[in-house]
Amino acid sequence: MTTIDKLEDVQGIVFSGYNKYMANCSYYLLKIDAAAKTKSWLKNLVEQNQITHGADKATAETENRISLAISYSGFEKLQLDQDSLYSFELSFREGMHSEHRSALLGDRGINDPSQWQWGSGGNSVDLLFILFSKNDAIHSASCKYHEKAFKGAGLSVVQRLDAGQKKQNDNGFAVEHFGFADGVSDPLVDGFPTTSGTGDIATGEFLLGYPNQYDGKLTKMPQLGASGDALGKNGTYLVLRQLKQDVGAFWAFMEEEAARQGITADYLAAKFVGRWKSGAVVEPDQDTDPNKVDNSFNFTKDPHGQGCPLGSHIRRANPRSVGLGATEAESLKVANRHRILRRGRSYGSFLANPAQDDGNERGLLFICLNANIERQFEFVQHTWINSVKFAGLYDEDDPLIGSAVEDNRNFTIQDLPIRRRVCGFQQFVTTKGGSYFFLPSLSALGLLGGS
Ligand code: HEM
Repeated sequence: MTTIDKLEDVQGIVFSGYNKYMANCSYYLLKIDAAAKTKSWLKNLVEQNQITHGADKATAETENRISLAISYSGFEKLQLDQDSLYSFELSFREGMHSEHRSALLGDRGINDPSQWQWGSGGNSVDLLFILFSKNDAIHSASCKYHEKAFKGAGLSVVQRLDAGQKKQNDNGFAVEHFGFADGVSDPLVDGFPTTSGTGDIATGEFLLGYPNQYDGKLTKMPQLGASGDALGKNGTYLVLRQLKQDVGAFWAFMEEEAARQGITADYLAAKFVGRWKSGAVVEPDQDTDPNKVDNSFNFTKDPHGQGCPLGSHIRRANPRSVGLGATEAESLKVANRHRILRRGRSYGSFLANPAQDDGNERGLLFICLNANIERQFEFVQHTWINSVKFAGLYDEDDPLIGSAVEDNRNFTIQDLPIRRRVCGFQQFVTTKGGSYFFLPSLSALGLLGGS
């Protein structure tokens, strides 16, 4: 079992999305206008213990949690020397909006960075400041306080994204806008305080400075001049994407198509996701939600996708023990080299009637953490979610969130005696903004601030 050197040095969001006590959350996307002022603000934040660390457990009394991440342009503006800048991984240096990375991620057509609300062109961002609060009153006072502090810190707000209403199901899981339990499957990470015993996934997949899952070695860390590993150690990369969900179109299509096929809309939607609304995985010969959630499956009882379809969202996002190698162990080994830690929240209000749109924007502020953006987030998005040749399929991408096929999209539901095909549907999720960030340790933030 790996031991994390100092939990006090790791930002708390690595271990928790603060869903239990923090009802409110705002994501501030900031631009640095005066680096010297920003540095002294950074120094104060760290010295006054305002950035939440991993040993600081939230309770019902805790008022706020704060996380801070920096983009490549942010590090440039904080005047890191060229060698230090170059020590970050290529995907981070190029940026999510760049020609190459956006093509790789499937951000084309309606998802193209030229159409984003932030994250590209004049709306690129240097810092991500995430403020969580216990309730509305505390949140509005805290937002006011920090917005004033940003002004004094030479920072301007490019965009403030507020996480929306929170909804929970009977099993205690947060519910996303399509109506499904979210946050059911998170990797059990070795050495994390939230994992009892030895975890399945190496610490170094999510925290730099520890052996990784790929080859048991240390993933390359960003370096800070004479301070060396101090910039990278206990830090990780953070991916943020604003993903708009077209809930009305999704459920209107489910109802229409289900009626045509003589099945229920909930059954069809569950096949798209691979889980029922409750969070239970769809198993073969199941017509309704069993309402029992257990994440300890690996698809070996459903090798052909007759329960959880081969091309469904969760099977693409984490194929587990089937399909990636000659044996189950080999497949799991491959799958586990491409895991991500999700920490996002929904934004916008929930629709009263999901099949009837109200014209307001809603979706997911998708956040994931990973030690290597290219091998983890980008691989999942490109090679699994957006692959039209995934698992022997040939003309379809992830039916829930894929963007490889623009229109007239297809989805195959494996079944006996014959498979079902769902055809002619649109993209239900659109990228509205995004950026790669680095989430430094607290000591690294101190160094950047000039401590
Ligand atoms: C609006 C966009 C999205 C929606 C509505 C959505 C919805 C869901 C739902 C309902 C689940 C099942 C419950 C759970 O385990 O949390 C899930 C699982 C998952 N999603 Fe997404 N998701 C979205 C975007 C993404 C993106 C962009 C990625 C990565 C590129 C991703 C990766 C995953 C992973 C890794 C899992 C867990 C799979 C497993 O281990 O079983 N999702 N998602």
